[in-house]
Amino acid sequence: MVEFVFDSKPRASSAVRVIVCASNVIKCEKFCSDKELKTLKDSVKTENFKAEFGAFAGVFDGKNKIILAGTGEKPSLLDVQILGGKIYQKIKNFQNAEVLVASNAKSKISASDIACNLAFGIELGGYRFDKYFTTKKESDFPKLEKVHFCAEGEKLSAVQYNNLHSVANAVRYARDLCNEPANYLTPQVFADDIKRLEYLGLKVKILEEKQIRAEGMNMLLAVAKGSHNSPRVAVLRWEGAKKSEANEFGLVGKGVTFDSGGISLKPSTRMCEMKGDMTGSAVVVATMKAAALCKVKQNITAVVGLVENMPSGHASRPGDVVTSMSGQTVEIIDTDAEGRLVLGDCLWYLQKNFAVKNIIDVATLTGSTMRTFGFEYAGLFSNNDKLAEKLYAKGLESGEKLWRLPVTKEYDKMIDSDIADMKNLGPMNGGGITAACFLQRFVKKENAWAHLDIAGVDLDDKGHPLTPKGATAFGVRVLSKMVGCY
Ligand code: BES
Ligand code: ZN
Ligand code: ZN
Repeated sequence: MVEFVFDSKPRASSAVRVIVCASNVIKCEKFCSDKELKTLKDSVKTENFKAEFGAFAGVFDGKNKIILAGTGEKPSLLDVQILGGKIYQKIKNFQNAEVLVASNAKSKISASDIACNLAFGIELGGYRFDKYFTTKKESDFPKLEKVHFCAEGEKLSAVQYNNLHSVANAVRYARDLCNEPANYLTPQVFADDIKRLEYLGLKVKILEEKQIRAEGMNMLLAVAKGSHNSPRVAVLRWEGAKKSEANEFGLVGKGVTFDSGGISLKPSTRMCEMKGDMTGSAVVVATMKAAALCKVKQNITAVVGLVENMPSGHASRPGDVVTSMSGQTVEIIDTDAEGRLVLGDCLWYLQKNFAVKNIIDVATLTGSTMRTFGFEYAGLFSNNDKLAEKLYAKGLESGEKLWRLPVTKEYDKMIDSDIADMKNLGPMNGGGITAACFLQRFVKKENAWAHLDIAGVDLDDKGHPLTPKGATAFGVRVLSKMVGCY
């Protein structure tokens, strides 16, 4: 973990120094020597550095490195975060770094905001999951320990970074959960981990199999049946508002710790990625962590269903019919369409026990949505324009982009079953939408509801300045914005 210091005085004591600037007129007294300034100016000329967003130039004398990083004239906060992620790549092999935020009269963002958002980008971009390496040496890993921020004529304050730091902490926590192999992260281990969040002032209740059965969550149990690892349902509550308010948030997450497909077994190619089928629940739990760390003035209740979907002699069969907690019956056409079974019961549990008016569920739900959007957007489905519009806007701001798809009657009809109230699989095409229609059948009409299908964006196989390869924890940033963390 990198430590950040926000200060007022420029120092020039680290081997690597970064000047974050909006123009190529470089002023940096006390940050570099006259000699360094001269070579820097030469480099601006030879490299034709214009300080556009993401442009870099610099000098390196074999020992000291000075980097110019352009923000462009009017960067957004997200731009600055991304720049932070890019800067991390350039400084990660130095132990200490100093970053000077040069003044920019045209930008509406203060130097403090720039420093904080750079730090946020460095925290997100600098994430790694290395606990299972045993032979790598210390020197094989990045060395960065401390970044010192300063600005020209402005005092930077660490307090301002608190909330962003909390969200970064939550993103990293969710990524750790998602990268964890399924032989370690069983539903029980996951639930134990969630229980530990009580130290933050969250109320956490864990339902074990017996209680889940008593609640009548038979769709969820139908998914869990084939596995030796028994299911859990975790209920988390953050009470940040004095009394129950009309705008209470409810969050629901899919926590399939491994999705083999069950009896409708998946092909083996890339099945290993299905350890990440609990990303929705990790995102929801991490958002609760962020909300608690930020002490948001909002009441939020989260319900996550933690199950493993495995084939065995005990497993559900295609064609089985189960009665959901809501009382509606479901024909299980395909045991691999298990996420909606888990979520349907969790949605019902949430609405039955808590007066939530705005509900958002998050799930790696369908290959169909993944094929629609690739790695750019997550699918957004909603019964409420206001909620959908807010999510869309917060998605753009956070960099976790959402795009709305319809959830309409024509599609809903497609999941009517011949022998039960509904089936868990519609026609071959439009699978992301019919899955959302299934979920909607477990949402009370008076509640605003949105469903985020994050299949496809949960894993990054290329890497991005803010999301290194592996689990992205897509959703924590947008949901943290929704509940007021930043
Ligand atoms: N967990 C998968 C969806 C998924 C696919 C997530 C790829 C991440 C990457 C889900 O449970 C599933 O298996 N969906 C199937 C349903 C199908 C068999 C009807 C799908 O959408 O392909
Ligand atoms: Zn599945
Ligand atoms: Zn799944």
